[in-house]
Amino acid sequence: MNLDKIDIPFEPPLKEPARQYYFIEKCAQYVKAESERLGRPLFSAVKTFGCQMNAHDSERLRGILLQMGFEESENEASDFVLYNTCTVRDNANQKVYGHLGYLKTIKKKNPHMKIALCGCMMQEKAVIERIKNSYPFVDLIFGTHNVFKLAELLYNCLTKDSMVIDIWDSGDIAVEALPSKRKYSFKSGVNIMYGCNNFCSYCIVPYVRGRERSRMPGEILSEIEALACDGVKEVMLLGQNVNSYGKTLKEPVSFASLLRQVCQIPGVERIRFMTSHPKDLSDELIETMRDCPKVCRHLHLPLQSGSSRILNLMNRRYTKEQYLELAGRIQKAIPNISLTTDIIVGFPGETEEDFAETLDVVTRVRYDSAFTFIYSKRTGTPAAAMENQVPEAVVKERFDRLLCQVQKISSQVCMRYAGTVQKVLVECENDHQIGYVSGRLDNNLLVHFPGDASLVGKLVNVKLTEAKGFYYIGKMAENS
Ligand code: 5AD
Ligand code: SF4
Repeated sequence: MNLDKIDIPFEPPLKEPARQYYFIEKCAQYVKAESERLGRPLFSAVKTFGCQMNAHDSERLRGILLQMGFEESENEASDFVLYNTCTVRDNANQKVYGHLGYLKTIKKKNPHMKIALCGCMMQEKAVIERIKNSYPFVDLIFGTHNVFKLAELLYNCLTKDSMVIDIWDSGDIAVEALPSKRKYSFKSGVNIMYGCNNFCSYCIVPYVRGRERSRMPGEILSEIEALACDGVKEVMLLGQNVNSYGKTLKEPVSFASLLRQVCQIPGVERIRFMTSHPKDLSDELIETMRDCPKVCRHLHLPLQSGSSRILNLMNRRYTKEQYLELAGRIQKAIPNISLTTDIIVGFPGETEEDFAETLDVVTRVRYDSAFTFIYSKRTGTPAAAMENQVPEAVVKERFDRLLCQVQKISSQVCMRYAGTVQKVLVECENDHQIGYVSGRLDNNLLVHFPGDASLVGKLVNVKLTEAKGFYYIGKMAENS
């Protein structure tokens, strides 16, 4: 059908977000006409690869699609399929290519379907070339800086037969005032900044997400106020390096000061944030976490390596001793804080002695949990050009040893609340056990306990009766 015949009585506005609402309306009329023609709703599926930031972007993409009249589906055999991709490690890329192979067979059977790709992986030129050459059935590609343009791009895609590609090399602050469909009604991510300036030598993020940009505090606070009015009790402040939030604003604001302002918002009961870089973590932040009960007692503090020599090669700008001193200071100021981390095994030149230093930090800090990664060579990063890439078998053996140590400590540490009463934010009814619900402690650990759907979204007191290693079984306490 001819989309331009759809009558919207004005030209597309030039200003955002009005422009995108115009295209949402155009697409909505298309969706309506198509569903009438087919005698069924049109379905869209958004699949997310990667981190919390991508998950948050996907909520916004879903919101736009819902506004157009698409029905949400998990099934990749949908009328519109969108993959929000990640490229932080090569296995994330391989997964996307694997899924594309599968989509090709589906599209053969349903030639009308539209396939779109967006997110970090699309910011790499080599990826775009590969898709153009080997996956010509893809209809639309966009990147990390123009996620908000989905409606306009989808409209272009529906009116053209060739692949639509729109990748920006950089971006200012994203357009946030667009619809969003939250996975949970009671918790939400909130972007406070975009990009990263740290250029850790192994990491591709600064190249695909661009330079660090902080949103204005007023905008962030208004967004959270609106979320709170909509029933959100827990917010997760998102940025690649939240500890340097606000430093580049015309009137600089510290992250700790933003956090204290978020604490003032009525209705918001829990505040989390992700991710902290150890080199930028201030005493002001430690004090704020200690003094503000709404700020969760959980800090994700990526270590990456325990060897000062490797940390230097990684361009992390702290030493093993500085990290240990910082972790100790945090644990002393905020007893019972949950520390979690990211660790990379097999960075170029890593020796057995370097690896032993990593194990040593893990043993001393006693993390609640650690995400452990095998080093992945990312083209274009300084580490990719380093000599002494560690043989795969050596890395694998170290990785297994690290995982074993991390899990042993974590199963001990996580159980420290056994027998106590803790606040739990109930997330859902339990899939496996009828009559049970599942929720999270302030340190993000899962708790399952008897309850029904009426508890979902509520903060209740739960006695943690059984410690199960990485989760608890509990019982609602009298005073809930
Ligand atoms: N290889 C392995 N892990 C990586 N990370 C980032 N880049 C790489 C890479 N090239 C990990 C870091 C980071 C987390 C999000 O991903 O540990 O903290
Ligand atoms: Fe990557 Fe380092 Fe930036 Fe984190 S701080 S996104 S690891 S460059």
